[in-house]
Amino acid sequence: AADMFETGALQGKRVVITAGPTREALDPVRYISNHSSGKMGYALAEAAAAAGAQTTVISGPVNLPAPERVSVVPVTSARDMLEACEQALPECDIFIACAAVADYRPADVQTQKIKKGPDEVHLALVKNPDIVAAVAASDHPVFTVGFAAETQQVIEYARGKLERKGLDMIVANDVSDQGIGFNSEENEVTVLWADGEIALPRAGKSTVAAGIIAQIALRLSP
Ligand code: CTP
Ligand code: CA
Repeated sequence: AADMFETGALQGKRVVITAGPTREALDPVRYISNHSSGKMGYALAEAAAAAGAQTTVISGPVNLPAPERVSVVPVTSARDMLEACEQALPECDIFIACAAVADYRPADVQTQKIKKGPDEVHLALVKNPDIVAAVAASDHPVFTVGFAAETQQVIEYARGKLERKGLDMIVANDVSDQGIGFNSEENEVTVLWADGEIALPRAGKSTVAAGIIAQIALRLSP
């Protein structure tokens, strides 16, 4: 992998990466979200930039500094993230969806703070758009990479997502293991594509990111 960076494996390529969680507003002071730290997406951005790519991160709310030579587009909700991705798409060769996008958002957003009332309330949610599937289905030719966070049947479910969403590659992540994934320093993933797969050993997120970028460069121009 070291060679890939010295030779600028992604020189001249334009990479767009989604990272972090999304926040789905309930009212002016409350939201639904998740524990994604954004670390994996930012590590991927650093690795892509190091490989010579012009790199943009479309980022949900995180507590991370912008990596050097990476432009960060901050967004809040899933729908904001989709809009920013659609805007970035005409100038994108490789799209990597690393964000933990909220699958659902509140059906109604109250304009005033919701007041405490009954002992039991039921929240109506509606499905958010699938950003990576929309990018893969767009007319613009782009190498599309997804992530699959799973707690069981990790490889089977990941392969299902690869096919269903029309992706070129997917990175499978076992989030049932507390030491890796979502909000930790390390990760251990399997990279899958239509006719192959490779397991990357457990390592710090920057090492794993470099491995993923190397696999993308390989599949892009074998
Ligand atoms: N993803 C996305 N937009 C969404 C939901 C997910 O772009 N609204 C992307 C994620 O960034 C990731 C991939 O889709 O690259 C898979 O996300 P994941 O949550 O594992 O899969 P889902 O399709 O949402 O299915 P489920 O949560 O039921 O496993
Ligand atoms: Ca999901």
